[in-house]
Amino acid sequence: MNSTPEEIRQRYQELASPTLSSPRVSLMARFVQHGRTTTLEHVAAVAYLSLYLSRALDLSCDEKALVRGALLHDYYLYDWHDHNAAPDAWHGFTHPRHALRNAEQDFPNLTDLERDIIAHHMFPLVPSPPRHLEALVVSLVDKACSTVEVFSERPWSHERQGGSAC
Ligand SMILES: [Fe+2]
Ligand SMILES: [Fe+2]
Repeated sequence: MNSTPEEIRQRYQELASPTLSSPRVSLMARFVQHGRTTTLEHVAAVAYLSLYLSRALDLSCDEKALVRGALLHDYYLYDWHDHNAAPDAWHGFTHPRHALRNAEQDFPNLTDLERDIIAHHMFPLVPSPPRHLEALVVSLVDKACSTVEVFSERPWSHERQGGSAC
């Protein structure tokens, strides 16, 4: 599917808005993900760029699940840098489980595909691999975004304040 950047941006906004307007999703703006990037900025960048990659490579993805799963993939809702706030000392391994639990609480109609995206985005650190193309896309884009965030100063913040405009 040939799409202009503006078409992809509009499609992203359309798909992301219902999730971004859910009350607890905005809590992700309180937590730092990598460097100076908030978790909300991070998940918005991963969701937008996953959709962009899917369109650019003409992948056959369920775009609705791709965007919602990506927005919720780090929905663990604590500061992982704060050892008193984190539920355990193994954030890298366990946060997909915490994110999935919160997503299931707040989004009762979560699909198996969205569960796959959330639960398996840390592959291969968590040795259970993605089962769907959408989950593989998010896992790869997540790693690329995380790397950029570690080495850049708030790379997504210019026109994407709070992640809502990504
Ligand atoms: Fe994660
Ligand atoms: Fe992530």
